[in-house]
Amino acid sequence: MNQRIYIAAYNQSKFGKLMDMTVPQILANAVSGVCQEIKVEPSVIDTGSVGSACNFTLNQQGLLSGLMATVPGLEGKPIESVENACASGGQAVLSVIYKLLGGVGDVGIAIGYEKMRNQEGKMDGKLIGEVLGYYSHPNERPGKVFIFPHLFAEIMQCYLQVYGASESDLAQIAVNEYQNAKYNPLAQMNKVQITLEQAMKIEGINRYVVDGLPLKTYDCSQITDGYAALILATEEGLRKLGIAKSECVEIAGYAQATDPLQKEGRNTLVPTGAYRAMRKAYEMADALPADVNVAEIHDCFTVAAAIGTEVLGKTSPGKGARYWVEGKASVDGDCAINMSGGLIAKGHPVGATGVAMLGSCFRQLKGKASKEIQRKDPKVAATFNIGGALCASVCTVLRNPA
Ligand SMILES: CC(C)(COP(=O)(O)OP(=O)(O)OC[C@H]1O[C@@H](n2cnc3c(N)ncnc32)[C@H](O)[C@@H]1OP(=O)(O)O)[C@@H](O)C(=O)NCCC(=O)NCCS
Repeated sequence: MNQRIYIAAYNQSKFGKLMDMTVPQILANAVSGVCQEIKVEPSVIDTGSVGSACNFTLNQQGLLSGLMATVPGLEGKPIESVENACASGGQAVLSVIYKLLGGVGDVGIAIGYEKMRNQEGKMDGKLIGEVLGYYSHPNERPGKVFIFPHLFAEIMQCYLQVYGASESDLAQIAVNEYQNAKYNPLAQMNKVQITLEQAMKIEGINRYVVDGLPLKTYDCSQITDGYAALILATEEGLRKLGIAKSECVEIAGYAQATDPLQKEGRNTLVPTGAYRAMRKAYEMADALPADVNVAEIHDCFTVAAAIGTEVLGKTSPGKGARYWVEGKASVDGDCAINMSGGLIAKGHPVGATGVAMLGSCFRQLKGKASKEIQRKDPKVAATFNIGGALCASVCTVLRNPA
C-alpha cells in the first residue's frame, strides 16, 4: 500500500428516533456535524460517498449524492451513493478510501444514514420486515413475514444444533450489550436494561419471532433512525485539514468480499467471504487477531455476534457465544467487543451501522469513550460489517499512527 488513509473526525446522531427530520436535513446535519468536530468547512472536502439501504422503500428518496452536493461547499464534487444492504455504511467508507487512493482528492467524507421510523417515532415492523427482505434471495422469501429475523432464526437454530450452544449463551450477548449501551449516551437502548432471565423468558415484548425457531425479540437488533459520518484523509489531506496525525487513527487494513445471495447451499456458520475479507484486512495491516483488543462486530442478531467473534479470529467456530459468556468480550477481557452496545442495544440504522463501527473504534483508540466502556490499553481495533444473510462483508483493522 503506497498511501496511508486516516480517520480525521467522526460524528453521529443519537441513534433511535429522528422524529420529523427529513432526509435532506439528515444529510446536511451529517456533513456539518463531522466538520464541526475538527472545525473545518465542508469546502475542504474533495469527495464523498453516502450509504443507505431503505431510502427508496421507506423514504421515497434516491440520488442521495445530490442531496449531499446541496450542502454549500460540496456542489460539483465527485460524490456517489452506494448500497450493499446492512453493509452500505462500510461500503461508503471503502468507496471513499478507493477514491482517495485513486487520486480523486485528499480529503473525503463517508456518510451512512437510515430513517426507519415515522415522524412520531413509530415503526411498522411488518413493513420493515418486507423491505429489508429485498436484501434476501427471492427464492428464500415465500412464507416469511419478518424475512431477516426469519433467516437468522434458521441460522441460530443451525448454530445451536451443530455446536451444542444454548439459547442462554446467545441471550447473554444481548444482556452484555445492553449493559454497554448504558454508558453510550448516543445508544438507542441507553435507558433500558435487561437481565438474562428477561432475555430468556417469553413474556411481554419477548416472544419467539417465528414459530418453531429459537430467535426471540431480545436476540434482535433495533429498528433505528440515525446517521454517522467520518472524514477520511491522506497524509496530504491531514496537512490541508491542519490535523496532527497523532489526533487520527489509521485505517491500516480493509477488505470486502461478497458471497452468493442465497443462503441455501452455503455454510453461513463459517461464511467464506467474511473470513476472506477479515484475513485480507489483517494481512494488509500486518496484524494478527491476537493483536486486536477492541472491536465492533455486526450483531444484527445474537447468533451473528457469535459468528462475528469467530470471524475476528478471537475463537474457533462454535465457541463465539461462550467467548461472551466467559467475559472475554468485556471492557477488560481479551477483546472489548461492541462497547457501543452493538446493533442490539446501540441500534441499527442499517446504512449508518458500518460507518458507526469505525467511529466507535476511533473513539476507543483515541480514549474518548465513556470511562466505563473505555478500553484501558487499546492497541489494534477491528470492525466486521455484514450485508444480508452473511453475504457482503466489509472488514477493517485500525490503529493509532506510529
Ligand atoms: C424483532 C422485531 C421483528 C419486532 O418487531 P415487531 O413485532 O413489529 O415489534 P412490536 O411492534 O411488537 O414492538 C413493540 C415494542 O417492542 C419493543 N421492541 C421491538 N423490537 C425490539 C427489539 N429488537 N429489541 C428490544 N425491544 C424491541 C419496542 O419497545 C417496541 O416499541 P417501539 O415502537 O417503541 O420501538 C423487530 O425489532 C425486528 O425486525 N428487528 C430486526 C431488524 C432487522 O432485521 N434488521 C436488519 C438485520 S440484517
